Amino acid sequence: MAANASATAHATERIAQLKSELEQHNRNYYVLDQPTIADGEWDKLFHELVALETQYPELLTVDSPTQRVGGKPLDMFAEVTHRVPMLSLGNAFSDADIDNFDRRCREGLSLTDTMIEYACEPKFDGLAISLTYVDGVFVQGATRGDGAVGEGVTENLKTIKSIPLAIKDQHKPALLEVRGEVIMLRKDFDKLNARQAARDEKLFVNPRNAAAGALRQLDSKLTAARPLTFFAYGIGAVEGVSVPTTHSALMAWLETLGFPVARQRGVVKGVEGLREFYQHIGETRPRLPYVIDGVVYKVNRFDQQQTLGFVSRAPRFAIAHKFPAEEATTVLLGIDVQVGRTGAITPVARLQPVFVGGTTVSNATLHNEDEIRRKDLRIGDTVVVRRAGDVIPEVAAVIIEKRPANAGTFVMPTRCPECDSAIVKLEGEAIARCTGGLICPAQRKQALLHYAERRAVDIEGLGDKLVEQLVDAGVVHTPADLYRLGLAALSNLDRMAEKSATNLLAAIEKSKHTTLAKFLFGLGIRHIGETTAKDLAKYFGNLDAIMDANVEQLLEVHDVGPVVAQSLRQFFDEPYNREVVEQLRACKVTWPETETQQGRGSQAENASNAASGADLGVFHGKTVVLTGTLGAMSRDEAKDKLETLGAKVAGSVSKKTDYVVAGAEAGSKLDKAVELGVAVLDEAQFLSMLSDK
Ligand code: IVH
Repeated sequence: MAANASATAHATERIAQLKSELEQHNRNYYVLDQPTIADGEWDKLFHELVALETQYPELLTVDSPTQRVGGKPLDMFAEVTHRVPMLSLGNAFSDADIDNFDRRCREGLSLTDTMIEYACEPKFDGLAISLTYVDGVFVQGATRGDGAVGEGVTENLKTIKSIPLAIKDQHKPALLEVRGEVIMLRKDFDKLNARQAARDEKLFVNPRNAAAGALRQLDSKLTAARPLTFFAYGIGAVEGVSVPTTHSALMAWLETLGFPVARQRGVVKGVEGLREFYQHIGETRPRLPYVIDGVVYKVNRFDQQQTLGFVSRAPRFAIAHKFPAEEATTVLLGIDVQVGRTGAITPVARLQPVFVGGTTVSNATLHNEDEIRRKDLRIGDTVVVRRAGDVIPEVAAVIIEKRPANAGTFVMPTRCPECDSAIVKLEGEAIARCTGGLICPAQRKQALLHYAERRAVDIEGLGDKLVEQLVDAGVVHTPADLYRLGLAALSNLDRMAEKSATNLLAAIEKSKHTTLAKFLFGLGIRHIGETTAKDLAKYFGNLDAIMDANVEQLLEVHDVGPVVAQSLRQFFDEPYNREVVEQLRACKVTWPETETQQGRGSQAENASNAASGADLGVFHGKTVVLTGTLGAMSRDEAKDKLETLGAKVAGSVSKKTDYVVAGAEAGSKLDKAVELGVAVLDEAQFLSMLSDK
């Protein structure tokens, strides 16, 4: 029929196109180690081809990429013919695919009512290799190559510490081929890329490519410099020993022989068991130390495996159940900047929407300006986008070959897009920041939460949900607005009962009585932590003196360096920040003014002046370490009290420590105190000494 003929013609054309495209990508990926397509995209094209060849079996030819397992071996390495071919696995993407797999296995084994036992394990995303042991000694290692003939990479494999050079067993088999995957652990990959970046060298796209590149080095010293790992998942030829009768027992046996095997293994029954395993590994996937692209199910009993046999180049008894691809290629449409909670300016890639990691991604973080330069990203580029688990999507690499002639470069804005304040990048820092502080809406919520923190002015009950609502409703812009809130404004908010509103207003009212240090800390000035705020308050004694101090004066303060001094100046040079401070004072946020130490000479003199003062308590000038839980007060409260009494509260115990206050469940700090002979106070002793002062 005409309609059929035209459909066939269409399929012929598409198949030819897919074959040549896939072959080219295959060469780039396997032979040249220069991927030109993300794995997920490749899979898509491949499966389109498989589907067409299944629908039109007469169009299937021997040169189709579906008929080969991998790429051609590089001719620089010796060719190694595998005694037993290294096969591939069929892929499953859906529950239906798994139902079909289980049904086919049951039919093949004539088991209509019995559930099959399956061995389940992760599908490593690395390179398949075969290790040959003769009389227990590692003599040869080879890549899979085309499945029949691979590349001899023995010397390179020997550099991988997890590959045993000799089998750990008295009864060494005359011959044993161990099959498994060479991978690079995530942490090693991150380290390697950090090293590449430090040397201004090209970053690797993913652990798989880094591992592939490493294994193909002709000089094994270069392989040794790249941290690779091996996991065994099966065997090939074997002579002179009887092997276990199930896959799970084989894995346990290989482990006893000294081979690394995946810890995340399981033996389950039936299709329900497979589903549970998939779900479980899927959940732990982002936290696994290595990248996996799916799980593999294998009929556990070897006799049943044999009955089922093989179809084409894949076993009928095993299947790979793939996870959604974590990488995809798309186009970088533009680069915007986003203002983070602490004013950090993060460039964000606007992408042509692409389905990756199970969702459609249209934005991805670019971290910072240096990262854009390092990756050499231009607007209009085709890029590889990665979304692993719940991790924020990122641009992993650019495919330079596809760069259009008019690709644009990114220029970091000089003003904040949210509040128009200046954007600055301090020397030695990778991150540019908006100097808007409290004026910047993007920073407001965080600033408010920080202001309300217990260590700051302490507004009990003002949590992030509430701040979110207050800011989004436009009721609160600055901390000063909190003091203008009334019952009416609060009762308009979602789920705010009158009782909680009254409590919140009381907490806000209470926060008006604070200390200069807490207030200063509460302003959320970068680099001004609790201790620095205390030092500043102590030194200057009043807020105006701090706001007006120049950098030199600020540097006089104990522990204040140029970074802190510059940050303070920048904050108070922004007129809006000064305005907010004035509003807070107008709202009657107050603190006891203390005598200024400024102008009284050096810090040492100040200390001795203070020391000559009357009525100093037992803790004055002492170094105290708090450990364990106190019943009467929190750790922070105890710290506050001690510091008010002139003690220094340290984080770790040393010979210089005067007292260790040990609350309930005190741990290693208490042990250290005992070891060093430092005085230990229990809570009762501590409280009594506090009241004695
Ligand atoms: S079994 C006869 N188990 O996936 C089947 N393969 O597409 C032999 N792979 O070439 C393979 N993890 O590179 C098996 N736990 C695992 C695996 C695994 C990763 C890779 C291997 C193989 C490819 C099959």
